[in-house]
Amino acid sequence: MQTGRGFKVSHIGIAVDDIAGAVERYSALFGIASPHREVVEEQGVDVASFRLEDVLVELTASTRDGSPIDRFLQKRGEGIHHVAFEVEDIVSELARLREAGIRLIDEVPRDGAHGMKIAFLHPGSFNGVLVELCQNP
Ligand code: CO
Repeated sequence: MQTGRGFKVSHIGIAVDDIAGAVERYSALFGIASPHREVVEEQGVDVASFRLEDVLVELTASTRDGSPIDRFLQKRGEGIHHVAFEVEDIVSELARLREAGIRLIDEVPRDGAHGMKIAFLHPGSFNGVLVELCQNP
């Protein structure tokens, strides 16, 4: 089986209404008492990250009405929000995907949690799954 372009699963984003309640239950699930907490004001998100070896599970709540995660919660309710893949060079991957006819949400990378550069790809291109690409600093 081909291994492709070195994509690695970085994290799974889960949209939640009540971050405190979600943290309590996922802490019990994973046996991790204190997940990493981070508010990213630019995106209007309050994130709790649980590290499972190389993959993070990120519980994401909205910090304000009208943020992208708030709009998702209003429309779809709680659940898996996106799957993120780590890439070596996000700018060149975006150029390659645009060339391949993939619908991009972000034409240029922006700042995400953990100091990463991130870009979202449209769920319409991936069977309803919102895909995020990210590159470590
Ligand atoms: Co993400």
